[in-house]
Amino acid sequence: MIDPKILAARFPGDFVFGVATAAFQIEGASKADGRKPSIWDAFSNMPGRVFGRHNGDVACDHYNRLEEDLDLIKALGVEAYRFSIAWPRIIPEGTGPVNEKGLDFYDRLVDGLKARGIKAFATLYHWDLPLALMGDGGWTSRATAYAFQRYAQTVIARLGDRLDAVATFNEPWCSVWLSHLYGVHAPGERNMDAALHALHVTNLAHGLGVAAVRAERPNLPVGLVLNAHQTYAASNGPEDVAAEKRAFDFHNGVFFGPVFAGAYPRGFMSALGHRMPEIEPGDMETIHLPLDWWGLNYYTPMRVQADEAPGAEYPATLPAPAVNGTKTDIGWEVCAPALGDLVRRLNDAYRLPDCYITENGACYNMGVENGEVNDQPRLDYIAEHLSVTADLISEGFSVRGYFAWSLMDNFEWAEGYRMRFGIVHVDYATQVRTIKKSGYWYSVLARQFPKGNHSGR
Ligand code: FCB
Repeated sequence: MIDPKILAARFPGDFVFGVATAAFQIEGASKADGRKPSIWDAFSNMPGRVFGRHNGDVACDHYNRLEEDLDLIKALGVEAYRFSIAWPRIIPEGTGPVNEKGLDFYDRLVDGLKARGIKAFATLYHWDLPLALMGDGGWTSRATAYAFQRYAQTVIARLGDRLDAVATFNEPWCSVWLSHLYGVHAPGERNMDAALHALHVTNLAHGLGVAAVRAERPNLPVGLVLNAHQTYAASNGPEDVAAEKRAFDFHNGVFFGPVFAGAYPRGFMSALGHRMPEIEPGDMETIHLPLDWWGLNYYTPMRVQADEAPGAEYPATLPAPAVNGTKTDIGWEVCAPALGDLVRRLNDAYRLPDCYITENGACYNMGVENGEVNDQPRLDYIAEHLSVTADLISEGFSVRGYFAWSLMDNFEWAEGYRMRFGIVHVDYATQVRTIKKSGYWYSVLARQFPKGNHSGR
C-alpha cells in the first residue's frame, strides 16, 4: 500500500486536495422548495432508461442533511469541495421567475463551507437541464444557450462573492454525444443531427456563461470541466491509426478546438460541418474566451479500431478491447499511465491554462462489514493515479489540484444506485454514511495540505 505521507511529499505545498459530487446525484428533495423537474427526472421515471428505474427523488437526501454532510467533508480533512448547482432549483422552468428558496440552499451550502474553512468549487451545469426547456428542443435549441447565460449570471450575482472557482459545464462530451447520439443519458436521443446542434449550442452556452461570470465577478476563476479521452489505436495498421486520429477529434477536438483554439477540427468539419447549425458571427470568439483554469475528469482510456463497414458514419470507429486485464466493477479498464499520456498530448495540441483533476476515482461495490468497508482496490486506483499526477507536476505541467470522485456513493446516472464510486459508503435505506478504507487513507493524505513548501509559486 502506498504510504499517503510519502505520496504527499511529491506534491507542492499549495496543491489542493478535494472531493466532488453533483446536485442530481446526491440532493434528492426533487420537489422541495419550488424545484421543478429536470430532464433527468423525466428520463429516470421512464421505464428502460435507468437501471432498476431508480431516480433522484431521494438520492443521498443531501438537501435535508446538508450540515451533517458538510461536517463529513470537514472530517475528511480536505481543502476543497466541488459541487454542482441545480438549475431547476434556481430558475425552475429554465426561463422566467427566479426561485429564491433554491438560491437560499446554495447560500447555506457555501456559507457552511466557508465556516468550516473549505474552498468552494461550483459547477453550473452537471446535466440537470430544466425539463421545460425541452419544449423548445433543449440543448439543440440556440435559445437554451441564452437561458443558460441568464442562469449563470443569476447564480454568480448571489454566490460569486464566496466561491473560489466556478466551472460552466461538467463533461459536455456526456451532455452532447452520450445524451444525443448514443442515447444513454437524458434526453436519450440517438441522432447525429440533434447531437451536432447540441454540440454547438453547448459550446456557445459555455462561452456566454464565461462572459456572464466575468461581468458579475471579474476576479472569480472561471473554467470548464472536460472528460478528455486518451484514445489509443488498436493496432499500428494505417486504418486503425487514422481511426484513432478521427476519434481524438470527435471526442476531444470538438470541445478543445473551439474553446482553446477558436475552431472546430478540420477533418470533423469536412465530414459533418454541413450538418452543423449555423455558426453565427461572433460565436467562435465567444466560445474561445480565455479561461483561468480547466478541469480534467479521467477514469479510463478509449481504445478504437476502424469501422470498415460501408457508409459507416464519421468518426467511423469501433471500440477495441482493453489491454489491461484489471477492470473496475463498472467494467472500465484501469490504466493510470493513460492519464499521463493524455495530459502530455493535450498540452502538445493546445495552449491550456492551469489544470485541476476535477474527477478521478473508481467503481467498487463492496458493502459494510463489521462497521467497515474494505475497498483496497479503490485506494490503489486513487494512489496510482495520484502518483502519475505527481510525475506530471515534476515534468512541469501545471496541475493544481485533485478531487476524488466521489465524496459518497450516489445516483450513478443510467446505472442507478447499483454502481458505487464513493470514498464514503451510503446505506440508502437508512442514509447512514460510513467512511471507507480509501476515505481514511485519502484523509491522511489530504491533511498534509496546505503545507509549507510552496516551491516558489
Ligand atoms: C463522470 C460524471 C460523474 C460521475 C462519474 C463516475 O462522467 O461527471 O457525475 O457519474 O463519471
